[in-house]
Amino acid sequence: MTAKSMEELVALCKRRGFIFQANEIYGGLQGLYDYGPLGVELKNNLKASWWSSMVYERDDVEGIDASILTSQDVLSQSGHEDTFSDPLIDCKDCKARWREDEIKGKNCPSCGSPNLTEPRPFNLMFRTSLGPIDDGSSFAYLRPETAQNIFTNFKNVLDSSPHHLPFGIAQIGKAFRNEITPRNFIFRVREFEQMELEFFVHKGSDDEWHKKWTDLRVQWWLDQGINEDNIELLYVTGNELAHYSKATVDIMYKFPHGLEELEGIANRTDFDLGSHTKFQEDLNINSTVKQNTKSKSRLAIQDKNNNWEIPYVIEPSAGVDRGVLAVLNEAYREEIVDNGKRRVVLSFKPHLAPIKAAVIPLKRNDENLVETASKLKLELQKTKLGRVILENTGNIGKSYRKHDEIGTPLCITIDFDSIEKGTATIRDRDSMNQMTLNLSEIPDYYSQYIGS
Ligand code: GAP
Repeated sequence: MTAKSMEELVALCKRRGFIFQANEIYGGLQGLYDYGPLGVELKNNLKASWWSSMVYERDDVEGIDASILTSQDVLSQSGHEDTFSDPLIDCKDCKARWREDEIKGKNCPSCGSPNLTEPRPFNLMFRTSLGPIDDGSSFAYLRPETAQNIFTNFKNVLDSSPHHLPFGIAQIGKAFRNEITPRNFIFRVREFEQMELEFFVHKGSDDEWHKKWTDLRVQWWLDQGINEDNIELLYVTGNELAHYSKATVDIMYKFPHGLEELEGIANRTDFDLGSHTKFQEDLNINSTVKQNTKSKSRLAIQDKNNNWEIPYVIEPSAGVDRGVLAVLNEAYREEIVDNGKRRVVLSFKPHLAPIKAAVIPLKRNDENLVETASKLKLELQKTKLGRVILENTGNIGKSYRKHDEIGTPLCITIDFDSIEKGTATIRDRDSMNQMTLNLSEIPDYYSQYIGS
């Protein structure tokens, strides 16, 4: 089961401390969100899962973390300065601004006026000045995607960690786009995070790798708890294809507001390395690239016969925030329990749960109970599988409800038997089943449950 509406998710996220509107106390800033105590854990867990599958579980991928501020040269060569724009229409009467595709007839959707401007390209990149003098002579862009400084670091990475084709470079980080109409909570925002892999392959093996990466990425989303029925693949065609792409498959997800892109897997051919390399004329570049007179680096690799080759690139590019929204939506479930009460549960996969276990002393002011619970909490925390908390409210029913709603897989209650017999009760979030274990058995049980 998923959430019934976006409103339900937004309310839960605020109430329980997952996600807040940014700058809320000053009225908020549109298209910007802050992750709260639970949101940051969920987001970090999703990113860690991606990094593990992309970098740690492979021998052919290296990671980087490059700067966000990016020079004009990079984004000119990449095509972003010329083409990274949406057509924008202004209403001359009410001054509302619209993306061209948002105007269905000939009138302003806000005030109904037919008095509209012609569409004009609106570049989505944010600029900021560098250094103390703000006269426009020295500026940088906030990167609109993490991909470009993977390409500009191609030679640095290869020189420091040699690889043969195929191999990849992965990066997780912030990207910025001045979206004209940010909307649908964290789905379309102006500051977001991407998880991108640029996987370099021999020309000729690119179609096969494109298919392979599409399958791998779909499987990864299923492993995060996304239901197969809520995913569709969209094979992008015609005008919808980005200028650099030979083929793109979008992984579409049924978000609460509709079926939309969660991740794109593009075959970027030799466009990017071909654009950023020096010696372009010697390198037999297949794509149409802008002439490069400034690059200081040959972004190519030598084959067995010492011939230079510009690799093709397969790029799985996922949005972290859209991923968070998708796993929250998937995990959301409402049910009526035996006592007739409604319970809300976030059934996250254990590796994504913001809090892995809550240790709850039966009474908050009983020293023995609290001390035993604290000791167990520390022991579980030492496994380094994620956050464990001591829930010292003295109200077991309320604690269970809270931890169901924030998706904590295990609640461990410390009662008087824990002192007298050395046992504790473990409650499973999803089944609500309870069982008794010796305190000494709990760390192993916990590690197996959460680590699996
Ligand atoms: N390097 C390729 C690239 O950036 P993209 O389709 O523009 O491709 C990749 O973006 C992913 O980044 C999308 O599938 C989406 O998950 C996420 N994304 C893009 N724009 C976003 C926005 N304004 N807000 C949140 N996520 C966004």
